[in-house]
Amino acid sequence: MRASGIGEVVASNNEKFPVGARVMGLMGLTEYAISDGNGLNVIPKELPAEAILSVIALPGITAYHGVFEVLKPEAGQTLIVTAAAGSVGSLVGQMAKNLGLTVVGVAGSDEKCQWLTKELGFDHAINYKDADFVEQLTQATPNGIDLFFENTGGAAQGPIFERMNAHGRIAVCGMIADYQKAEPAPGPSWVGIIKRRLSIQGFTMPDHFHRIPEYGQALGAMLGKGELKYRVSCD
Ligand SMILES: NC(=O)c1ccc[n+]([C@@H]2O[C@H](COP(=O)([O-])OP(=O)(O)OC[C@H]3O[C@@H](n4cnc5c(N)ncnc54)[C@H](OP(=O)(O)O)[C@@H]3O)[C@@H](O)[C@H]2O)c1
Repeated sequence: MRASGIGEVVASNNEKFPVGARVMGLMGLTEYAISDGNGLNVIPKELPAEAILSVIALPGITAYHGVFEVLKPEAGQTLIVTAAAGSVGSLVGQMAKNLGLTVVGVAGSDEKCQWLTKELGFDHAINYKDADFVEQLTQATPNGIDLFFENTGGAAQGPIFERMNAHGRIAVCGMIADYQKAEPAPGPSWVGIIKRRLSIQGFTMPDHFHRIPEYGQALGAMLGKGELKYRVSCD
């Protein structure tokens, strides 16, 4: 099964990966893996394994790519992220906060919303299951929304789309509300895209795996400075 993992090199014919080096990459769920080195990166031994798998692996590189390469935020803008308490969304919001944006998170429980505002420093967090979601969204975004990091689709998408400012950008990372539906949701009207001159860009990380060393270094630096918090659950 395909999975990111951390390993230690036990035998090597590749000088980039000497015996004893700690490496990460798509190794699969296995005790031993054979690799030609493609897609593997050497990582510092000091970082805890949870930090690496929560931040420097797929969640972090996805958040990093979507924020810096797709949304290209500027201080003072308002960014909203769905599945905000998830592995990707929680990092997206923190990166945007660190850049000086106003950040609104959308999540599915009050406990998650509390974590976002009290622990991660989001400006607002809204439970998309609340009956007054639209009113809360309006109050939380008095100047509209410039950037939308979309992880879910579902009921929140339409109201968020309606609050997008002219020349806003939407990064379409995931549509978890639709993955198991026989019919995907219709989505917002394209007329709104014209009226608001929006840029909407989907992306998938396998297109960008060659940038993992660069992204990993940037994420490692953010971790080192204490700029990114994460939480781990083991079920
Ligand atoms: N494009 C890429 O290359 C790429 C890479 C990685 C991940 N992704 C996508 O990015 C998204 C987030 O990934 P992740 O790893 O952060 O996920 P995650 O940590 O597993 O979080 C997913 C969260 O989505 C929320 N959710 C589930 N069903 C929902 C629904 N019907 N409506 C609204 N919210 C719902 C749930 O939180 P609540 O309790 O808040 O509802 C769930 O905990 C996923 O869609 C994933 O497929 C894309």
